[in-house]
Amino acid sequence: MDILYKKLEKYHERGIYPFHMPGHKRNEKAVDFLPGLTADITEIEGFDQLHHPAGTLKDAQRAAARLFGADETFYSVNGSTGALLAAVCACTTPGNALLMARNCHKSVYHAVCLGQLDSFYLYPKIVAPYGLNGSIQPIQVEKALEARPDVQAVLITSPTYDGIVSPVGEIAEIVHRRGIPLIVDEAHGAHFPFHGFFPAPALEQGADVVVHSLHKTLPSLTQTALLHVRGERVEMGRIRRYMEIFQTSSPSYLLMGSMDACIRRLADTGPELFNGYVDRLGRLRERLSKLQYIDLVGDDLSGHAAVWDLDRSKLILDTRKSPMSGPQLYRWLWEEAGLQMEMEAETYVLGMTSIADTDEGYDRLSQALEDLEGMWKREGRIPQKGSGLFRSDLALSSGEKILPIGRAVEQPCETIPLSQSEGRIAGGSLYLYPPGIPLVVPGEKVTAGLIGMIMRSRAAGLAVQGLADTIDPAPGIPVIRKRQDRFTDRG
Ligand SMILES: Cc1ncc(COP(=O)(O)O)c(C=O)c1O
Repeated sequence: MDILYKKLEKYHERGIYPFHMPGHKRNEKAVDFLPGLTADITEIEGFDQLHHPAGTLKDAQRAAARLFGADETFYSVNGSTGALLAAVCACTTPGNALLMARNCHKSVYHAVCLGQLDSFYLYPKIVAPYGLNGSIQPIQVEKALEARPDVQAVLITSPTYDGIVSPVGEIAEIVHRRGIPLIVDEAHGAHFPFHGFFPAPALEQGADVVVHSLHKTLPSLTQTALLHVRGERVEMGRIRRYMEIFQTSSPSYLLMGSMDACIRRLADTGPELFNGYVDRLGRLRERLSKLQYIDLVGDDLSGHAAVWDLDRSKLILDTRKSPMSGPQLYRWLWEEAGLQMEMEAETYVLGMTSIADTDEGYDRLSQALEDLEGMWKREGRIPQKGSGLFRSDLALSSGEKILPIGRAVEQPCETIPLSQSEGRIAGGSLYLYPPGIPLVVPGEKVTAGLIGMIMRSRAAGLAVQGLADTIDPAPGIPVIRKRQDRFTDRG
């Protein structure tokens, strides 16, 4: 069998001259920065085509399906973003509805817009005392489906950016009773199948479509993702069509070679790699749990009513007992310890781990935090009482939906000061990024709660995307022009 990444390595050695794309011609002198040059080919003789795979790429995608237990797996060179757009469009038809978790990534909202769908939301429970978005409860799904017979598919994010997992098995059973598919955005959980330390994977629990970002938690290049399909509820032809629509016609062999190498490595030595990783991660978590003022969120959540399960590969460093806020700790780790964390939030910092981490990296993080606590003690800095809210709960302060997203984005907009926007209909989305969960989406009414949350996030040093900085001193927000405010859901 041809193995894509090995073929790419060998091809360069054959000295074949490229009278084809890409324009760099694998000539390293062509421009100053061309990493990965030798494997950056196009759809040339013997290398198959992603959108009509018949050889090497068919084998590569089959190897991925075998590894993850899917009936069919599709490569995405447009990340989970492209795969989610395809999944939603393939499972629905325009004018119908998607039942989705309100804490979904923005790509799902974009899919709702492109697919001309109406969206209905499942609001995750809040995890006290942290204020994180918790799991979606099966009863919520049951009730929502009873209320909306026009729902054609259900989509949840599990795990969340913070690692919180929903009971996919129970939710799948409820969704399947209606004869419709469950799509799980498991972008952050591609590592789940490889060790029992992590939560059970969605595909194993009955999800029909599962999306994995390979690049988030496994060793693969940025933009690489997989879309898996299992069972009969989803038409494979529709998935194939939308994967073609939402991806370039010139998929990068660097990205595809990287996916192939990642999958083959896991197939060959996954258990060994994961055993070592879980050992190292366990030791790291133990060491971090000894910190006095920074709390590693984790074991305290087991049995929590709002948390079905938690991915312990994520390091949530809660700062509420410490003299620093989340953004202050994030900046300190970057400036003083040379550690770039994944995300800052109002009262926590999030770190991501993977099989590719080193003991040295884990030691540097532990040492830096121990040194910081030592410094606080020496300086007699009295731990402050935390503000008590995490930023992920900001996603929940949404307003009443006046227009479906697809109609709202087509309305003429104006930018007005945020402080004067209460009651107006949002014309654009606002996000904290990461995690990229919209605080408000086009077509929703702006509430006083939302305005307060935005002001508070900005005061905490968190950037809110989607605001206009042109109106001084207050930020501006795009809203639909007044005349259009008369639109209702039926429009
Ligand atoms: C939950 C979730 N889903 C989907 C995505 C999109 O993933 P990608 O960057 O692979 O397109 C992200 C990105 O951060 C995410 O957090």
